[in-house]
Amino acid sequence: MCGIVGYIGEKKAKPILISGITRLEYRGYDSSGMSIIEDEKILSEKSVGRISELEKKIDGKFNESSLGIVHTRWATHGAPTIENAHPHYDCSGKIAIVHNGIIENYNYLKAKLESDGHRFTSQTDSEVLAHLIESHFDGVLEDATRAALKEVDGAYGLAVISLDDPGKLIAARRGSPLIVGIGNGEHFVTSDVAAILEYTKEVVYLDDNEIAILTKDTMKTIDVDNVEITKRIDEVEWNLDKIEKGGYEHFMLKEIYEQPQSLQAAMLGRFEKDSDLVHLGGLKDKEDDLRSIRRIIIVACGTSWNSGLIGEYMIEEHLSIPVEVEYASEFRYRDPIIEANTMVIAISQSGETADTLAAINEAKKKGAIILSICNVVGSSIAREADCGMFLHAGPEIGVASTKAFTSQIAVLSLLTLFMARIKGKDDVLNSELASRLKEIPEQVQKIFDSKDKIIEIAQLYKDSENCLYLGRGYNYPVALEGALKLKEISYIHAEGYPAAEMKHGPIALIDKNMPVVVVATTDRIYSKILSNIEEVRARGGKVIAIASEQNNEIANLVDHVLYIPETIDALVPILSVIPLQLLSYHMAVMRGCDVDKPRNLAKSVTVE
Ligand code: F6R
Repeated sequence: MCGIVGYIGEKKAKPILISGITRLEYRGYDSSGMSIIEDEKILSEKSVGRISELEKKIDGKFNESSLGIVHTRWATHGAPTIENAHPHYDCSGKIAIVHNGIIENYNYLKAKLESDGHRFTSQTDSEVLAHLIESHFDGVLEDATRAALKEVDGAYGLAVISLDDPGKLIAARRGSPLIVGIGNGEHFVTSDVAAILEYTKEVVYLDDNEIAILTKDTMKTIDVDNVEITKRIDEVEWNLDKIEKGGYEHFMLKEIYEQPQSLQAAMLGRFEKDSDLVHLGGLKDKEDDLRSIRRIIIVACGTSWNSGLIGEYMIEEHLSIPVEVEYASEFRYRDPIIEANTMVIAISQSGETADTLAAINEAKKKGAIILSICNVVGSSIAREADCGMFLHAGPEIGVASTKAFTSQIAVLSLLTLFMARIKGKDDVLNSELASRLKEIPEQVQKIFDSKDKIIEIAQLYKDSENCLYLGRGYNYPVALEGALKLKEISYIHAEGYPAAEMKHGPIALIDKNMPVVVVATTDRIYSKILSNIEEVRARGGKVIAIASEQNNEIANLVDHVLYIPETIDALVPILSVIPLQLLSYHMAVMRGCDVDKPRNLAKSVTVE
């Protein structure tokens, strides 16, 4: 959500800033802007819309500078206009800042600064930072930034440059990710490593309340009280090819097709050799704590919440530990009860979702042990947790989450197997969970053979205004996820429901114009879902069924069938969601939607 890139070095800053911010466009894309220091001036340009608009505006300009900052915005305070686009400046135009996050006391600060004579030109909360730094400026940019940040409530990832202290790039973080990249005679600042991977893999993850003072050759890190901090340099494990489209038309499509590999990567090195026993490096030191867990609360948002629901069913079925799944945004504000031996599992692809981060902070205060399941190594949630597991799915750039969802289910299965091992639950260890999980990547690959059929169905229903998704048991969260995927990228109104709930209300909506996607794999409640299909058909609804491949009867009962390979109930969601991802993708593309950057959305929601 919003992206920041900064550069200081010997190379030309403009192409580095543009290529970096273009890679972050998936984080927010309603406006953008750049400031550089050149010929003893700060030069800036901003535009509304995509980065390509900014590029047009700076064509032939900004060519000499080796120091600059750039931003792509997802509006929170103030509409997406030129005035509200970042960078923002102080009154003299000598200080420029780019900011991610929200300054919660900005109204108070703005009023105070205005009464001191500062003139504001935007409706954003971010602009107060530029004026606040100006009000403290006495020739040393880091001192002014530090003093300003002491007055600020809220979250920030911030980069600052100043004409009156040139040759410096200041970066600061609290609650919104910021990373320093280390090159040869150069430094980068970014809110997401994807922006700088082309130039360096050596990074320093700033922690909350830390400020980095960067010149081209030096980096010093201090806290807001000016105490120097020694930081570890990490190496990013992702390669450049992982953040490129690799011949696919969209990142979303690439990420859907990557799932056999991303699922394989989730399991890699986690099973004991030639065995079904699971070892998880990130939980090794916590085995005693985990053994005594009596209750689990899963907190997450969106797609990650849907996978959490599958985790609930799986853990309760196999480990008999009670599990609740909470929307992180609700959990954090409702004074939840956390008893001894409660574990909170935070699931987040990005590891930066503000609501999920706040939820685990709340749970931590109440004494829960926090386990994170994240994709992004070095992310805030992974670092705040007591222990955790990474998905190793590679970067997910399409705004609609796909491969993270299936990897989250795979990792929840591994967690279930791990807990079964340390708790000595032989029934689970001797069940098919491990052996069937190992088969899953190949089975996902097989589903791609139905591509043409999926495209045919997409063509028939692409002009629908509404769509209903039904599922029961483990397939109920899949129905939710299928509906979420369709609505967010195609803008078709879609709802997911437990199939039996349909008759308590949504059935009123069914007529010949309502496609109903029913996830009806052959599981222990299959016969029940057949009755739900009949109820839809009786009212003229069109049924698209997702069914197990050995099912010979269902084709006679519905309008269309998409078959998936057979597996155990707990793992079905990894397979049943694949046709739904592809159906949404193709319907959205046929409707002319920009599937990688759906309207109003952004990857990684780092605001409340
Ligand atoms: C849906 C989607 C969102 C995210 C949600 C949580 O396709 O991408 O619903 O799942 O914003 O994000 P993470 O998993 O990064 O915490």
